[in-house]
Amino acid sequence: MRQRRVRAAGIAAAVVALVAGGVSVLPALAAAGPTLAQVATARGFSIGTAAGVKTLASSQWRYVADTQFNSVTMGNEGKWDATEPAQGQFDFAAADFIADYARTTGKRLRGHTLVWHSQLPAWVSTDRTAAEQRQVLLDHVTGVAGHFKNKVAQWDVVNEPFNEDGTFRSSVWYQRLGEDYIADALTAARAADPAAKLYINDYNVEGVNAKSTGLYNLVQRLQARGVPIDGVGLQAHLIVGQVPSTLRQNIERFTALGLKVEITELDVRIPLPADASELTQQAADYRAVVGACAAVAGCTGVTTWGVGEADSWVPAFFPGYGAALLFDEQWRARPAYSAVVEALGGTPSVPEPPATPSLVTVASWPFETGLAGWGSRGSEVTTASTAAAHGGTGSVLSSGRTATWQGPTRPVLDLLTPGKLYTVSAWARTASGSGTARLSMQRQNGTATRYENVSANTAISTTWTRLSGDYLFLPGATALSVYLETTDTTGDLYLDDVTIQTEGTPTSASASASPSVSASVSPSASRSPSASVSPSASRSPSRSPSGSPSVSPSSSASSGGTGCAVHYAKNDWGGGFAGDVTVTNTGSTAVTGWTLRWTFAGNQQVSQAWSTVLTQSGAAVTAVNAAWNGTIPAGASANFGFLASYTGGNTDPSAFTLNGTACTLR
Ligand code: XIL
Repeated sequence: MRQRRVRAAGIAAAVVALVAGGVSVLPALAAAGPTLAQVATARGFSIGTAAGVKTLASSQWRYVADTQFNSVTMGNEGKWDATEPAQGQFDFAAADFIADYARTTGKRLRGHTLVWHSQLPAWVSTDRTAAEQRQVLLDHVTGVAGHFKNKVAQWDVVNEPFNEDGTFRSSVWYQRLGEDYIADALTAARAADPAAKLYINDYNVEGVNAKSTGLYNLVQRLQARGVPIDGVGLQAHLIVGQVPSTLRQNIERFTALGLKVEITELDVRIPLPADASELTQQAADYRAVVGACAAVAGCTGVTTWGVGEADSWVPAFFPGYGAALLFDEQWRARPAYSAVVEALGGTPSVPEPPATPSLVTVASWPFETGLAGWGSRGSEVTTASTAAAHGGTGSVLSSGRTATWQGPTRPVLDLLTPGKLYTVSAWARTASGSGTARLSMQRQNGTATRYENVSANTAISTTWTRLSGDYLFLPGATALSVYLETTDTTGDLYLDDVTIQTEGTPTSASASASPSVSASVSPSASRSPSASVSPSASRSPSRSPSGSPSVSPSSSASSGGTGCAVHYAKNDWGGGFAGDVTVTNTGSTAVTGWTLRWTFAGNQQVSQAWSTVLTQSGAAVTAVNAAWNGTIPAGASANFGFLASYTGGNTDPSAFTLNGTACTLR
């Protein structure tokens, strides 16, 4: 990340250094200063952020996190509901994703959290004996900490065990097992991963108060019994202007016991809208917290609970508050950023925010010409309909529903790339009445099935409701489908204009691209075969013939003089290739909605395509426009790309038709 120095002294120092080195570079470039992570790393300090699978798949989040933080904490993915949703059935797909990120970027990993009263699946609290409950706890700690053995530097073994008055929170653990659940969890964690440092973590324990004294007394009792405990985590979810004056004193009383201290979930929330003086006060608050920790040898790191506004939990959990983290809505550094750098002894240089990524449509279903692979979920009947349409004249109708979960569905495993973030959108409408429509993904991972909601909204009969949300496709899936359901059990339901989009190839910070037809060129042109072929090549590229949209040429052909020319280019690396297709409208009127068909000459098999919805049946290929590039004005072109494998020869196709009309080759 490029950094702008904010201090004249910094610029002067940089220029001097350059002159001394005899290097001739522009001062603007020379002014690049160290990042927050570099400042922290230089003094052996950890500066972390909570990470989530969704934030991790955002190129903008990564752009900031990669360079500004040297530690990450599992935000939600290490919690019980994520790791052991059903008894004895562990699911580490999401948490592994974060652990892999930490490993590949060289960041320290904090595990969060093994035993907590919140985000527990219901089965944990069902009626059972104390001995059984203890076994549930031990199995979980052993299973999760064992899975991450030698990968996690610190575990929040027990989270939030205290009430505000310093007594124990009346959780299912304390009710059924008493105080000993804490020692049991710590002992099991040590056995499962001897290298991990073990922490008890809580909020409102930053200053010296009744709650932190409860924690202080507990850790002394544990130490006296020889129970493994390495540190305490002070969450530090603070309100602007309210850093406890006893913070440093409190940190010191814990380190005096031989324990480490970490600030684990720092944010400083401001009543919205935040004004300049509040942001200045917030900077002072961040400086005070980081400074207090950095001043005590046993206080080893500070983690903020997210990077920017987009991944902050504050707006949702503290209505009316926000602006709590170091970066804002557009990933620009807030004044607190420079304050934290200074608190760690660095000279601040404000980082440039990342560019807005371009969006590429990987699939779209306008339902103008049939179901295109959509079918029934359950006993309901999914049919193509022209009784209602959001765009054009066609949609999908789900009728004969007998349960809320029934509705239209389509397999999409072959369309998505594991580890990528997608935006999934659709329009829903009821035939009568209303209900909450839910657009979701069903992900199969071996025998485990996950139902992951993308978007929910009230659907009514008089207008269309948009459903749109992010979906991170985790690695390891054996089946994946998108589906629509509604809380109205029996009502008929319409679905239309479903699209799946993803970020294009990351752009540099200075080159900002917005979604447009021109954006379709860059992903294909800049895609390196080695980088993009492996995820798709590892999966079966088969597509069912029924998935092919049956486009009737007459319905979408241009009405005036028609004509087309196709340029087919490929980048072949032996056994696989990237195809790049440009179709030009040589007619005299615009083409509105296009279908380009060709037949491969050999046994080429497409595994992935972009800027088009491409289906293949045998050697026959059907490429339909994406939602945003359906119109080709007279004389203009549309471009799309694909990845394919082959054996034997890779001869180019010799004939193409656009909406049923033969094209010339260019
Ligand atoms: C929060 C997450 O940030 C939210 O996304 C989630 O919905 C609720 O939990 N203390 C903790 C964290 O220890 O795990 C909590 O994280 C915030 C409070």
